[in-house]
Amino acid sequence: MFLEEIKKRRTFGIISHPDAGKTTLTEKLLLFGGAIQEAGAVKSNKIKKGATSDFMEIERQRGISVATSVLAFYYKNKKINILDTPGHKDFAEDTFRTLTAVDSVIVVIDVAKGVEEQTEKLVEVCRMRQIPMIVFINKLDREGKDAFDLMDEVEQKLGLRVTPLTFPIGMGYDFQGIYNIWTKNVQLFQEEDKQHKGTAVAYDDLTDPALGQAIGQNALDQLKEELELVEGVYPEFDQKDYLDGKLQPVFFGSALNNFGVQELLDCFIDIAPAPLVKKAEEREIDPTEKSFSGFVFKIHANMDPNHRDRLAFIKIVSGTFERNKPYLHVRHNKKLKFSSPNAFFAEKKEIVDISYPGDIVGLHDTGNFKIGDSLTAGEQINFKGIPSFSPEHFRYINNADPMKAKQLNKGIDQLMDEGVAQLFTLSLNNRKVIGTVGALQFDVIQYRLEHEYGAKCSYENLNVHKACWVEAEDENNSEFAEFKRVKQKFLAIDKAGQLVFLADSAFSLQMTQQKYPSVRFHFTSEF
Ligand code: G4P
Repeated sequence: MFLEEIKKRRTFGIISHPDAGKTTLTEKLLLFGGAIQEAGAVKSNKIKKGATSDFMEIERQRGISVATSVLAFYYKNKKINILDTPGHKDFAEDTFRTLTAVDSVIVVIDVAKGVEEQTEKLVEVCRMRQIPMIVFINKLDREGKDAFDLMDEVEQKLGLRVTPLTFPIGMGYDFQGIYNIWTKNVQLFQEEDKQHKGTAVAYDDLTDPALGQAIGQNALDQLKEELELVEGVYPEFDQKDYLDGKLQPVFFGSALNNFGVQELLDCFIDIAPAPLVKKAEEREIDPTEKSFSGFVFKIHANMDPNHRDRLAFIKIVSGTFERNKPYLHVRHNKKLKFSSPNAFFAEKKEIVDISYPGDIVGLHDTGNFKIGDSLTAGEQINFKGIPSFSPEHFRYINNADPMKAKQLNKGIDQLMDEGVAQLFTLSLNNRKVIGTVGALQFDVIQYRLEHEYGAKCSYENLNVHKACWVEAEDENNSEFAEFKRVKQKFLAIDKAGQLVFLADSAFSLQMTQQKYPSVRFHFTSEF
C-alpha cells in the first residue's frame, strides 16, 4: 500500500519564459484531470507589465501564488502534484528553490519565439541537477519556426539532447494535427471545443487510407518524409536516459486549443519519475524508507496582517507524514506537532491525516521554519541543495522610525527566512545590507515591513557587483588573515553566519582572487 502510493506520485514543475503558455498548459492539465470544470479558473500569477510599483498588484500576486503553489489532481490512478514556479525574473530565486522539490519538469517553449532568456537560466539549473525534462513546444496554431530548426535551437541554446515523441502536421494556418510517435497514431486538430477535452479524430496509423483524404496527399507525403528524417536524425527514446537527464523528449501542441496536451499528459504519467532518492548531508534518503523525512522549500506569509501566521511548504522525501505526530525540527533540535497540515487540490486546500513521499504539505508556522529546514521522524538529516545565489541588487536598509527598531529587526528576520531577499551584515560597522534578485523585491520588503510589522525602512544605494561566499583552504593560514584585514570594508556575514565578500566590480573581484590564491570564492552559499 505504502509502496503503491509512492509509485503513483508524479511531482513536477512547469517552467518557461513569461507568456510561453505555462498557465494555460497548467489549466489544461487540470481540465484533463477533472480538477477544474472550465478554462479560466487558474489565475495567472504573473505580475502584469508596468505594475512594478503597484502594491495592490503585489498583494494580488501573493494571494494567487498561495492558491496556485501546489495543484494536485488524480489522473488515470496517478496523483499529479504540479508545483507552481513564478515566471517573473525578479522571483527567479523562488523558482530555483521550488526546483529542489520537483522530481521532473516540463519546459514550455513558444513556437514563434523559440528559446528565450528565462528558459535558458531555468533549464541550466535543471540540467546541473540532472532533473528529467520534457519539452513542450506550444502555440502550434500560430506561425512559428520550423520544427527541426526549433529542436536544433533547443539543443544548442539549452544544451539538451532531444528526441520528438510527437510531431506536428503543418503549422500555423496549415496546422492539421499531430503524429504521436510514442503511440504511433494520428490526431487531427479541430478548433472548436477549446474548453473541453479534445474532440480530435484519431487514425491508427499512417497507412489508414482515410488519413490521406483528411489531410491531403501532399501533407501526408511531407509528414512521412519528416518522420523518416526524425528516425534518421534523433535517437530512439530511452526512458533511462530521460530519467538520468541525458535525453529530453519533445512534444508539440497548442495549450490554448487543448491540442497535443493529452498526448503529453498520457506519456508523462508513463515515463516521468515517481519520487526520487534525495541527497542529504549525512546520506541518501530513499522515498521507500519507513521513517518520515522532508524539507521546507517555500514559506508563505499569511495574507492576514492581524495573524502573523505563515505556511511552510514541505516536500515529503520518505515515509509518511501524519497529522498530530511529533516530528523533529532538525535545526532547532525540537519536536513539533501539527494539528492541521494542509494538502492542496487544484484550487482548494484541505486538512490531511496522512501524506506520502512526493506530496507537499503546508504547515502553519509562527516563525520556526526557514527555507531549507529539515523535518524528520527523529534522525539528524540535513537535506542539501537549497543554495543561495549572489543577489543582483544591493542596498543598505535603514530604520526610518526609531521607535520601531524591534519590529523592523523581526520583520527583516522573518522576510529573509521566507527567502524574499538575503541579508548581509557588514563586518566593519554592522550595517545591514539587503541583496535581491530583482529591484521589485525592495518595494515588496518596504511594503510588507510596514503593513505586516508596523515598521518603516529606507534604502541607500550601495555599489556591489557580486556577493561571493569565501573560505580559506586552511583557517590558520596567514594569507586568509591578511585577506580579512585588508578587505574588511568589503566583508560581511550572511544570515547563516557565513563570511561573504561583497566585490564592488568584476575587476576588483578578479584582482582579489589573484592576490589571495589560497582563498576560495564561491558563487553560491552551498559548497
Ligand atoms: P505564462 O503563464 O507562461 O506567462 O503564459 P500564459 O499561459 O498566460 O499565456 C500567455 C498568452 O499566450 C496568453 O494570451 C495565452 O492565451 C496565450 N496562449 C497560450 N497557449 C497558446 C496557444 O497554444 N496558442 C495561442 N495562439 N496562444 C496561446 P494573452 O492574450 O496574453 O492572455 P489572455 O488574455 O488570453 O489570458
